[in-house]
Amino acid sequence: MSYFLNLKKQDPRVYKSVLGEIKRQQEGLEMIASENYVSAAVLEALGTVFTNKYSEGYPGKRYYGGQEFTDVIEELAIKRAKKLFGAEHINVQPLSGAPANMIAYSAVLKPGDKILGMDLSHGGHLTHGHPVTLSAKIYNFIRYKTTPDGKINYKELEKIAIKEKPKMILAGFSAYTRQLDYKKFSAIAKKVRAISMIDIAHIAGLIAGKAIPNPVPYFDIVTTTTHKTLRGPRGGMIMCKKGFAKAIDKAAFPGFQGGPHMNNIAALSVALGEALEPSFKKYAKQIIKNAKILEQELRKYGFKIMFGGTDNHMVLLNVFSSKGVTGKEAEVVLDKIGITINKNMIPDDPRHPMDPSGIRIGVPAATTRGMKEKEIKLIAQYINDAISNHKNNKTLKQVNKEVKKLCKKFPIYKNLK
Ligand SMILES: Cc1ncc(COP(=O)(O)O)c(C=O)c1O
Repeated sequence: MSYFLNLKKQDPRVYKSVLGEIKRQQEGLEMIASENYVSAAVLEALGTVFTNKYSEGYPGKRYYGGQEFTDVIEELAIKRAKKLFGAEHINVQPLSGAPANMIAYSAVLKPGDKILGMDLSHGGHLTHGHPVTLSAKIYNFIRYKTTPDGKINYKELEKIAIKEKPKMILAGFSAYTRQLDYKKFSAIAKKVRAISMIDIAHIAGLIAGKAIPNPVPYFDIVTTTTHKTLRGPRGGMIMCKKGFAKAIDKAAFPGFQGGPHMNNIAALSVALGEALEPSFKKYAKQIIKNAKILEQELRKYGFKIMFGGTDNHMVLLNVFSSKGVTGKEAEVVLDKIGITINKNMIPDDPRHPMDPSGIRIGVPAATTRGMKEKEIKLIAQYINDAISNHKNNKTLKQVNKEVKKLCKKFPIYKNLK
């Protein structure tokens, strides 16, 4: 019997696409650093009747009636997130990572205020003030960069902070692979009386699983998505010190959003519960091991690894300088063999963002499937075979077969059809 009985009957076109996507996810290797596979329990919670409910406000203080169960799940999500991250206050309502950042900025800053954040091509995120974003139209972003050997020069960062006197110092990234020195960020912010904020969207699961240090004690505000390494539904969270709690909650609702998506919050509660289990610690540690093996293997195959290596769940490669293919070409050829990654800028990339010099590869999803060092070594070999033979369709077809064979051994959702 189909799991999607009603959908199949009501809307065959949508049903067909859902089946197609399940097949794509099953038969391919998902190596986009920001993606993962949620558990079947999280998927079930997402599809519950909580999707019908309006819950503007917060537990115990809502603008609509009928909240006896929404309050339970929102309080549960907050309690579990506090246990995982040790934050003084948590708001679980941001609809995703970009809104979480806008809410955080607007809670503590005025239009025109200066924010010192990481340059996009050095690993920062669009929502950290890229000129095309709304945040850049409202606030005045200035940037710090990484050094040629991939470090952050904290002395230089301090110099910029003293000269520019930003209202906020923003740490965090979407394509940087080294461990940040939280203490130094926090000390610099204190010295120039700036608010310290970190966006841990990419590494939240590694922090929750205690595979890397927790920045929460050091920063005034911590934003995150819930769907990357944390392996929850798509969504966002904001953690902060008690002193910022009221401002953050007000900025989320009614400041920026309307009703929270309660089915997402139900699914988030489930995912946070999973992250509290001992097996999640193992998962987070395995991600780091897998990324390190991927780095070592790709280095052996002659790929240029950016930032000198990785301390987290991803690697950034300069494929243009080391293999003579552009990031876009590499993305297309890896798609052909069933490995999904994304093209990515490298620091101060001279090429266009739509066809940059680099690619970013992450291991959280493969690790969720149960893949370990042995499989990661094979994956590195497939990546090298494909990129080195990018014009040879026969080889690409053969490698695609190998990828499918590997994926078959690691099923994702057994009963979804
Ligand atoms: C560091 C960081 N912050 C924020 C976001 C935005 O998250 P969302 O796509 O959920 O809005 C991302 C997404 O990739 C990210 O990497």
